[in-house]
Amino acid sequence: MKKKIICLVMAGMLTLSLVACGGKGGASDDGGKQESGDASANVANKDKPLVWFNRQPSNSSTGELDMTALSFNDDTYYVGFDANQGAELQGEMVKEYIEANIDKMDRNGDGVIGYVLAIGDIGHNDSIARTRGIRKALGTGVEKDGGINSDPVGTNTDGASNMVKDGNIEANGKTYVVRELASQEMKNSAGATWDAATAGNAIGTWSSSFGDAIDVVISNNDGMGMSMFNAWSKDNKVPTFGYDANNDAVAAIAEGYGGTISQHADVQAYLTLRVLRNALDGVDIDTGIGTKDEAGNVLGEDVYVYKADERSYYALNVAVTAENYQDFLDSTKVYGPVSAKLDEDKHAEKKVWLDIYNASDNFLSSTYQPLLQNYDDLLNLDVDYIGGDGQTESNITNRLGNPGQYDAFAINMVKTDNAASYTSLLSQ
Ligand code: BGC
Repeated sequence: MKKKIICLVMAGMLTLSLVACGGKGGASDDGGKQESGDASANVANKDKPLVWFNRQPSNSSTGELDMTALSFNDDTYYVGFDANQGAELQGEMVKEYIEANIDKMDRNGDGVIGYVLAIGDIGHNDSIARTRGIRKALGTGVEKDGGINSDPVGTNTDGASNMVKDGNIEANGKTYVVRELASQEMKNSAGATWDAATAGNAIGTWSSSFGDAIDVVISNNDGMGMSMFNAWSKDNKVPTFGYDANNDAVAAIAEGYGGTISQHADVQAYLTLRVLRNALDGVDIDTGIGTKDEAGNVLGEDVYVYKADERSYYALNVAVTAENYQDFLDSTKVYGPVSAKLDEDKHAEKKVWLDIYNASDNFLSSTYQPLLQNYDDLLNLDVDYIGGDGQTESNITNRLGNPGQYDAFAINMVKTDNAASYTSLLSQ
C-alpha cells in the first residue's frame, strides 16, 4: 500500500513516469535495470518477503508455533518438511529391518535387541519427532504430557528407566525384547547441537561399555549417524540408521548403513527461494508450486503440503534403503519438475540475504546449500550465503548489518525460539 502511494507521488513529481511499481514487496522496483546491491529504499525492511526454513519458529520446550514470527508480514512463510510423517517412516524402516533380518540381529543371543540413539537437539521439533517416531515403532515410548517422552535416557542397560520402556518384536515365531540401551543429546561443549563429532565419541563410549549388547545404532540425522558408522558400526557390522539422505550416507548403504530418510531437500530448497521469488514478483504465491508457471515448473501433491493456518510449506519424506538407494545417490540434484529457468526479462535479478545456522551442519552444508545454489540461478536470485557457528544467534545477526541492501530474507535460526532476534533488525 505505502509503496503504491510513494510511487504515485514520485510519478507525479517526475512527470516522466518511468518508475516501475509493479512487484509487491520487491525492493528494487527498477524494471530489472537496477544493479544488485542497491535495493531501493522504497520498501521498508519490515515489508520485504521473509522465509524461515529448516528451523520453524516455535517454543523449544512445548513445540508451539510462533505465529507472530510466522506472520511477520504478508509475505512471510516457513519451509520445512513433515516431521511427523518422516519420523514415523524412520521408525517403521528400522522395525522392518529388524524383522526382516532377525536371524542375525541379536549379536549376543540374549533375546534383547538393544539399540542406542543419537539425539540432535532436544528443543528442535524435527529431532523430537524422530525420537518419538523410533520409540513409537519399536514400542519403547512412554507417555509424557500427552505425547511420547522424547527426553534422552542417558544409560538404560538394565531396562529400569522410566523415560522409556522395553518393547517387543515378534519375528520367526519368537518374541524379542527391544531396549533403548542409551540415548544422549549430541551437543558439544561450545553448545553446537546435532554434533557429529560428539556422536562419534559417544559410540566409542557406548561400545566399550555395552559391547555386543548393541544390535542397532539409530540417529536423528545422517551427520551423526555416519560419524558413528565410520567410528564403529561399519567395522562391527551393526546396522546404523539416519535421516536426511546426504550423499555419503546413501552411498554407505552399499557398505551396510541400514537406511535413511529423504526429507525431499530438493523440493524444500526450491520452495525456500520460490516463495521469495513469487512475493517479489507480486504474483500468486502458488505460482510454480501448485500452479504451473510460464516455464512449466510445478510440484505435485505427492511431494509437499501447504498449511495456510501455519503459513508453512512441508515437503514429504521418502525412505531410502538397500532397495531404492540407487535413485538417491546425488542429493544435490534439482528436482526435475521444477528445474526450468525463469526468463530474466520478466523476473529481474533480486538480492537475497540467507543464512545457514551452522556452516558445519552436514545436511545443510552438503545437501541443502548446494541445492539452493542450483535454484538461485534458475530463479534469478542473487543470494548472499552467510554461515553461522551453530552456537549463537548474534554470530549471524551481526552480519545482517544492512538489511536495506536486500530485497528479501531467508532465515535459518540457531534456536527456534529466537525469531525476534531477526525480526527486530528488520523492524528498525
Ligand atoms: C536435519 C538435520 C539438521 C537440522 C538442522 C534437520 O532437519 O535433518 O540433519 O542438522 O535440521 O536444523
